[in-house]
Amino acid sequence: MDDFRNKVVYQIYPKSFRDSNGDGVGDLRGVTEKLDYIRALGADYIWLTPFFPSPQRDNGYDVADYCAVDPMFGTMADMEELLREAEKRGVGLMLDMVFNHTSTAHRWFRLALAGEKRYQDYYIFRDGPPDAPPTNWQSKFGGSAWEYVPGLGKWYLHLFDVTQADLNWENPAVREEMKNVIRFWQGKGVRAFRFDVVNLISKPDTFENDMEGDGRRFYTDGPRIHEHIRELVRDTGLAGAVTVGEMSSTSLDHCVRYTQPQNGELSMTFSFHHLKVDYRNGDKWQLQPPDLTRLRELFETWQTGMARGGGWNALFWCNHDQPRVVSRFGDDGRYWKESAKMLALCLHLMRGTPYIYQGEELGMTNAYFDRIEQYRDVESVNYFRILTASGMDRRQVMEILRARSRDNSRTPMQWNDTPNAGFTSGTPWIGVSQRNPGANAEAEEKDASSILSFYRRLIRLRKTHPIIARGDIRFLCQDQPGVIAYRRALDGAELTVICNFTAEEITVPDFSGRGEAALLLDSYERPPLIQASGIRLTPFEGCAFLQ
Ligand code: NOJ
Repeated sequence: MDDFRNKVVYQIYPKSFRDSNGDGVGDLRGVTEKLDYIRALGADYIWLTPFFPSPQRDNGYDVADYCAVDPMFGTMADMEELLREAEKRGVGLMLDMVFNHTSTAHRWFRLALAGEKRYQDYYIFRDGPPDAPPTNWQSKFGGSAWEYVPGLGKWYLHLFDVTQADLNWENPAVREEMKNVIRFWQGKGVRAFRFDVVNLISKPDTFENDMEGDGRRFYTDGPRIHEHIRELVRDTGLAGAVTVGEMSSTSLDHCVRYTQPQNGELSMTFSFHHLKVDYRNGDKWQLQPPDLTRLRELFETWQTGMARGGGWNALFWCNHDQPRVVSRFGDDGRYWKESAKMLALCLHLMRGTPYIYQGEELGMTNAYFDRIEQYRDVESVNYFRILTASGMDRRQVMEILRARSRDNSRTPMQWNDTPNAGFTSGTPWIGVSQRNPGANAEAEEKDASSILSFYRRLIRLRKTHPIIARGDIRFLCQDQPGVIAYRRALDGAELTVICNFTAEEITVPDFSGRGEAALLLDSYERPPLIQASGIRLTPFEGCAFLQ
């Protein structure tokens, strides 16, 4: 099996990556066109978010057919060409398996609605009167998690959009269908898979109201979750593949179990606790500045906890659901370059497999849209409605969306500084970010001090210094607010990383290694100032020393 520990994964959201035919929507041929860019970056795998036939209510996470290509992204022949061309360059494809739910446009759901009992058992239908949903559970996109079907006199469960019906994993026939999907793509040569919200697939036997929350405690890391994953892996030979599970509101203990090699489950997991440190009262729709102490503590808990348990983290700041990290934990104005590099350095040198989301390597920023009509995301549009209906001032709602909308990461990839950023010759399906056209591939490829060059260097370092992939980890400097510092160790070597997450100068004790250590990287591209009192870090400075 490929050793996933020294690999780097590049995430592509095809809809926004590169449009090859001028219809305003990115496509598979667009990805093939840009393979050399990814190869030059040094990534080993491309995680492609869903390109399967879909009504696109949730941009492809509402799958209507798992084994085909949506014409909007191209054809199966385009997909096969992409696979072949990627392979030639030593890049693997990681496909996104959305197995918690299907679109209500899926054939199975349509047959269920037509009254076929066999397919009703593929989903979670419950009898009940039209005015009383079976439980009070809430959808993650707002509103009730149940939808009534008058023709059947039944409700169905949808943890996400009303057009994303949850599958019934207790039905062995559903589990077989899912295995066949994996086998289909394995047959095409795919060797890596990402599993969407996979820790939500195991629902309880009985459904009850949640008097404390939105229902998630009943189905998150649910009763038979490990069993289901093990069975899927065992029966499809996935143990030989690179796999990552997206784990919603999960726990460290479960993630250790999901990824301990002896358990036969997954290679690694995504968890999200570190991306909630700017949620007030744990609520995504209430703003607060990032709690940097909490961020440091969470990294320490997850890094050392997974290491102790023999588990493995997927490391990430950004994806298609998250705001851009440089706008969120960095400074996308004055310290744009320095903070983007510091954030990259801090994450890539931790213990785990790093994921880079398209454009992150360029320092792309949030969208800075100022009109609701510019937004496309179903969650953003729903919450705009919910928050304004609750009486919140419209301007305040727009400010929240500017910080939190998933569209912040879905603006077109910036290939150059032309008006459509080189993404399309047509009209893009979503507008280009309104900030920093300088964050583009053409400009950064020519500049040795660019954010892109820094990411390339970080990836090369992982391949040349085994300590990055395999070293132990211990956190330093636990009581200095705004600083995240840690030390990796392997076979007598030490790698020390110190990062200033603030716009202030900070002096930390000299952890660099008693004068014998060599500077490996610095987000200012020069050594930090080392004085008798310690290391003086300028705003958003991050540095790494090797000894
Ligand atoms: C997580 C995906 O990353 C997100 O984009 C999607 O909306 C939900 N799962 C539902 O599939």
